[in-house]
Amino acid sequence: MKEFLPKRIWQWFERTRVGRSIFRVGLPQSNLERAQAMVSSFLLHMQPAKVNRHSLRASYSFGLGLISLYLFLILTFTGVLLMFYYVPSTDHAYNVMKDLQFVVSAGLIMRNMHRWAAHLMVIFVLLHMCRVFYTGAYKRPREFNWVLGVGLFLLTLGLSFTGYLLPWDQLAYWAITVGTNIAAYAPYIGPELKYVMLGGNAVGQEALIRFYALHVIVLPAIAGFLIAVHIWRVRKDGGLSRPDEAGDTVQQVELSQLPTSKTYGLMELARGTTPQVGRNPEDEVFAWPHLIFRELLLFLLVVAAVLFLAVFWNAPLEELANPVHPPNPAKAPWYFLGLQELVSYSAFWGGVVVPGVLVLALVLLPYLDHNRKGVGRWFARDRVVANTIFTVCLVIAIVLTIIGTLFRGPNWSWQEPWKKPPAVTESH
Ligand code: HEM
Repeated sequence: MKEFLPKRIWQWFERTRVGRSIFRVGLPQSNLERAQAMVSSFLLHMQPAKVNRHSLRASYSFGLGLISLYLFLILTFTGVLLMFYYVPSTDHAYNVMKDLQFVVSAGLIMRNMHRWAAHLMVIFVLLHMCRVFYTGAYKRPREFNWVLGVGLFLLTLGLSFTGYLLPWDQLAYWAITVGTNIAAYAPYIGPELKYVMLGGNAVGQEALIRFYALHVIVLPAIAGFLIAVHIWRVRKDGGLSRPDEAGDTVQQVELSQLPTSKTYGLMELARGTTPQVGRNPEDEVFAWPHLIFRELLLFLLVVAAVLFLAVFWNAPLEELANPVHPPNPAKAPWYFLGLQELVSYSAFWGGVVVPGVLVLALVLLPYLDHNRKGVGRWFARDRVVANTIFTVCLVIAIVLTIIGTLFRGPNWSWQEPWKKPPAVTESH
């Protein structure tokens, strides 16, 4: 069979001196080379040389963690391009948005991609967290990776929230005003917390520069680092969770029992995982090409989906921020609207106690749940209590968010979306 031209060019390039200096292994032809391709490449070495067939099943993980990662990469790429133009000043920020829309080549598409990828990341990180919960994948030995995940979830919200202010339009200004007011309900430190976030008592230039620094440097750097540790831990914790490692069927080998390199094969060491009794080599396939090509395909799909959204839908941009003309109602970003709804009943309980308890419960979950059964299967019957509690909390959060988003009108009064009155703007 005739080989494809790109493959022939690639093979020629690999044989040149320059090619050999870059790719030490070349396109793998044998099993040994397939393993070497993974172990010797900077980008690929975070992943094991072999993976379990179960973890390759799309219906198990739905690739939700990977999609979150790809969205983060898209956000970093488009964010850096936007930084070439953006000026974190209340006098210029809004004009830059207009320039991106009408003057800068591909500026609109970059802004759209950045905005839609940010919303998608909040959604997909949440979905990924639900997948991990419903498959019991947070249990031993993955407790700490779950805790890292909770940190990543909060960071994702923080990244989105700090980015919200940057366009400096009415939507941005009032969403951040409402969001930071919710933070001010925290007992003792609330008002100080709001002051530190805003650099004053109201959203202004100081707040813009703080949010900018957090959004482009501090939070992405922490998130990038935590994502790297998180994915590295996936590998060190034995790859993705599987049904055959549930507590009732398999024993985890304790660290003190870890074999030395003499008794432990070179491939096992390269794999760098905690060995588990019950692991069946028959169930494992080479990461190259089985995993790598799936990852590449998913990456292309995510980029295509974000591009599609960006081409057909523009990111919103309202009028220039006006501190004396609040919209009525002024709403927080959509992912905080459930919180805002709760705050409308009780500032202290809704704004502090409920979110505080929920975050604490999420962090402690893997250490409180002693049930070792039901790992690696969706909605396992052995986990019916945990699944029910989680589902009830999730449904309440979704219902509150929908109410806050669609059913709240002027002065936070109940309003059916299909009978929406014209927007009211109050001047003070
Ligand atoms: C920026 C956010 C995140 C990124 C980029 C990310 C990335 C990933 C990736 C790539 C995987 C491997 C497989 C997969 O696609 O599922 C994974 C697994 C995992 N993630 Fe995340 N994740 C994030 C947030 C979270 C959150 C919010 C949690 C939970 C609170 C979490 C907990 C876990 C756990 C426990 C695993 C191992 C799952 C298993 O073994 O089945 N991650 N993550």
